Order: sequence, then C-alpha cells, then structure tokens
Amino acid sequence: MEARTRRLRSNEALRRLSRETRVSADSLIYPLFVRQGSGIEEALATFPGQFRYSPDTVVRGVDEALQAGVRSFILFGIPEDKDDQGCGAYDHNGVVQQALRQLRAGFGDDVYLITDVCLCEYTSHGHCGLIVDGRVDNDSTLPLLAATALSHVQAGADMVAPSGMMDKTVAALRTALDANGHIDTPVMSYAAKYSSAFYGPFRVAADSTPQFGDRRSYQMDYHNQKEALKRIQADLEEGADIIIVKPALAYLDIIAKAAEQVLAPIAAYSVGGEYAMIKAAAAAGMVDEYAILCESAVSIYRAGADILISYFAKELAGAIRKGDIG
Ligand code: PBG
Ligand code: ZN
Repeated sequence: MEARTRRLRSNEALRRLSRETRVSADSLIYPLFVRQGSGIEEALATFPGQFRYSPDTVVRGVDEALQAGVRSFILFGIPEDKDDQGCGAYDHNGVVQQALRQLRAGFGDDVYLITDVCLCEYTSHGHCGLIVDGRVDNDSTLPLLAATALSHVQAGADMVAPSGMMDKTVAALRTALDANGHIDTPVMSYAAKYSSAFYGPFRVAADSTPQFGDRRSYQMDYHNQKEALKRIQADLEEGADIIIVKPALAYLDIIAKAAEQVLAPIAAYSVGGEYAMIKAAAAAGMVDEYAILCESAVSIYRAGADILISYFAKELAGAIRKGDIG
C-alpha cells in the first residue's frame, strides 16, 4: 500500500479527520404518506417500517423523525376519491393541505415541509398528467400543477417539488408562485427522473400505478445520460432552485455528472425499491441492514449529492449521531 494511504489509515481519529465525504442530518429529507381520514397509522406491506398516516396522525410520524434528528419532510397525498382531473391535488382542503396545516400548527418552523406536486396519486387513471385522446397531455396539465403547488404553499409548504416530468412545469409553478407573492418559495424539481421499476413499492403505497400504459412517454429512458443533463439544464433555466436525480443507487453516474456540471444543489432520491431491496435482503438474513444502509447512503453523497431523500432518513440521522458515518 502506498505510504500516504497507510499513514492516513493508521488511527481512528486520523481516519475520521481525513474523510473525503461528510454527511449531515441537516441534508436528509424523509418522505411521508398521508391519506384521507382520521386516526390512521397504516403499515405498508411494500415499505416495511413506513406508514400511511392521516392528517391528524402524521404529527406522530414527524415527531419521531424530529427525535431522530431529521427535520425536513416531503409529503405525498392519497385522496379518498380519485377522478380523471386529479381534483384532490389542488383542493384547498385536500389531504396534503390538511396535513400541512396540522404540521405547521404543531411544529412551527422546527420542520421544513416540502410537497410532492403531481397528479398521479389523484387521478383515477394513475398518470401524472391529464389524458387527452388517450395520451398524457403536457400543456393542459400545467395549470393544474401550478394550482396544486400554490395551494400547498398557501397551506404552509416551505418548498414544492414537481415530480410529473411535464415540460415547462418549473416555469408554470414559478409564474404562479411569484404572481401570488411567494417569490421566495423555492422549487425543487425532479429534473432527472427515470422511468424505473424501482418505483414499484411507492406505487403500491401511493396507489398510483397507471391503469393503462406506462410512464415512458414522460419519464426518462435509463439508457440515457446526456438527456438527464439536458433536462436539468432546462429546469434550472426555468428557475428550479434544487434539482433531483431519481432513483439514486443505480444512477450514481448521473449524480456524479450533474455534480460536476450543474451549479445548483443536487438532491438524490433513494426510492422505494432501493429501500425495499435492503429491507428484504436483511429480513432474509442475507445482508446486514444497518451496514448496508450506511454504505449506500454515503456512496450517494460520495457521488456528489448534496441532499438525500431517503426512507432510511431516521436511521441515517442515528448513524450520523453515533459517529458511524459522517
Ligand atoms: C410521482 C412520484 C413517484 C415517486 C415520487 N413521486 C413515482 C412514480 O413515477 O410513480 C417515486 C418515489 C419512490 O419510488 O420512492 N410522480
Ligand atoms: Zn406522478
């Protein structure tokens, strides 16, 4: 082994001192699912350890995460009724809007609340946009996404995260927010979102599996890298403040390239399938869950992510606090 490498490994304090990647609980975002109703805390089969809350009980989920050291959240809503227009998404009394009001009342500025802005959880067909002549229609979807984002911010969201991959979404949201005085509310855009089988567990949790076709007309083909950089660039030009690469583990090259080329914070979304694989393999006794979740998360930061959205956020904050990573 090279002499310098050997010296840097020679004691624990020095190994920590000379680490090249640093992680902090401040950079973690924890996803939460909220469904219509009250008194609900429903365990999710595809997400062992995660729950669907109702607007009144989501306070408990947030409280637990706060205790663990996580204070940023991204909320997903599952409405009681779905329709072809996704009305529940932009209903001022929708499930996410209710949850935002509860959380703000309960926690004030101790929590940073982000909302996922998309129609797929709210549409009966399960697509991220309106269907016109049997196809997802980009442009007629934009006003609905803008209305959704605005209603989230009016209910207390600190930041909005459009995930539907409709072109010009960021511009539409920015215009609507600015026109209503929310000029300082940032947009975190799912700019590089691949069409991925890793979303399987999420779609069960959010009840958002497309009822016909798939999302390949608007989500990216995993053979492509340059396309991701182009979409990131476009979103930044439209005014995105933070960009998301999603999924994370199978897309570390995209994160690394973006980190080199993009002048904005990069959030990596380690999605449901990534979480589920670790959980399932660990439950079967095949891998050490804690070791794997630590190693996977650090590798995402090492690739260049500044922010990590993860279902393991609480465990990661604990690992950071214990000094196992960070
Ligand atoms: C909806 C959306 C998806 C995720 C976040 N927002 C997935 C999809 O396209 O079905 C994925 C999150 C996860 O898989 O954990 N636009
Ligand atoms: Zn969607």
